[in-house]
Amino acid sequence: MIRSEILGTGSYLPEKVVTNKDWEKMVDTSDEWITTRTGIKERHFAAENEATSDLVVEASKKAIEDAKINKEDIDLIIVGTISSDNAYPSTANWVQKKLGIKPIPSFDISAACSGFLYGLIVADSFIKIGAAKKVLVAGAEIMTRIMNWEDRNTCVLFGDGAGAVVLGPTDEDKGILSTYWGADGNLGDLLKQPAGGSAMPATHETVDKKLHAVYMEGNKVFKHAVLRMQEAAIKALELANLTGNDVDLYIPHQANIRIIEATIERAKIPLEKTFINIDKIANISAATIPIGLDQAKKTGRIKPGDNVLMSAFGGGLTWAGIVVRF
Ligand code: ACO
Repeated sequence: MIRSEILGTGSYLPEKVVTNKDWEKMVDTSDEWITTRTGIKERHFAAENEATSDLVVEASKKAIEDAKINKEDIDLIIVGTISSDNAYPSTANWVQKKLGIKPIPSFDISAACSGFLYGLIVADSFIKIGAAKKVLVAGAEIMTRIMNWEDRNTCVLFGDGAGAVVLGPTDEDKGILSTYWGADGNLGDLLKQPAGGSAMPATHETVDKKLHAVYMEGNKVFKHAVLRMQEAAIKALELANLTGNDVDLYIPHQANIRIIEATIERAKIPLEKTFINIDKIANISAATIPIGLDQAKKTGRIKPGDNVLMSAFGGGLTWAGIVVRF
């Protein structure tokens, strides 16, 4: 039976770090509020001359090196993002150009914070049917470009960065063991970027009203986030015939420490087996999980044979869970 395994990982965080104390100088907020409500202490901001594809390229170079493959072996590029360089071409197209890879299929996935896991699920399917052999899957965001800098409800929550993996086929007893995903467009209005698309094209008014930024009904989203994160984690484990006890490391999407705590309690996963970096990177939407995966691998928290659970929830509303054996 052919499965897909993660051959290499890489991540990139822009140099500039912005702390909660820095935010105190910009909006009516406090380190105490942000820390107790979310667990966030600091986040990275991209430089003015960086576009989302640039972040992906940095993360991808490391993932390709880690996978010990030639970049010419890559036959598909998928980027999960909601802050693409342009509406089109896709960020993945720019990544193909900037990495200097021959013309191959490349496309973006718009599933907000679930974008990377959605990308892995699509890549896994291509590999299983033999349609691709080496897939570069990335999650990347420059959330600071789609933020309302005056809306304290959202602006303090997000950061910028990218993570990437190279996926390839294996016939060994490892790789992606299970995938679970879902979406509910009925709840799409709770978290969206209202303007800039065909439903509300850009006008002076949309710019003045800051409708090109993230709009979120945080409280309502929170309730769905807890339920769907739990569902995604538990279903992914069930589909892999595993329980919380079998998890060697859980890498949850990092939107809010309280969502993570509620999920691990329900899925019966110990805190010490949960990877938490929300304090350092905040919510980077689709980039959060691949960055966590890379950091966990590079710091020795993932060893050969380990069962790693990942689950995410985001705008759409979307959610996904995956179990991978290393
Ligand atoms: N500083 C100080 N006070 C603030 C701030 C801030 N930055 N932001 C909001 N407040 C105030 C509010 O105005 C409100 O005041 P009021 O009671 O006087 O009206 C009070 O704090 C409480 O606000 P709530 O929204 O109820 O705060 P809550 O505890 O729900 O926390 C949060 C807000 C952190 C956004 C939480 O709801 C959350 O994490 N939601 C889920 C986010 C999520 O998972 N998103 C999905 C992924 S993102 C994506 O897909 C792009």
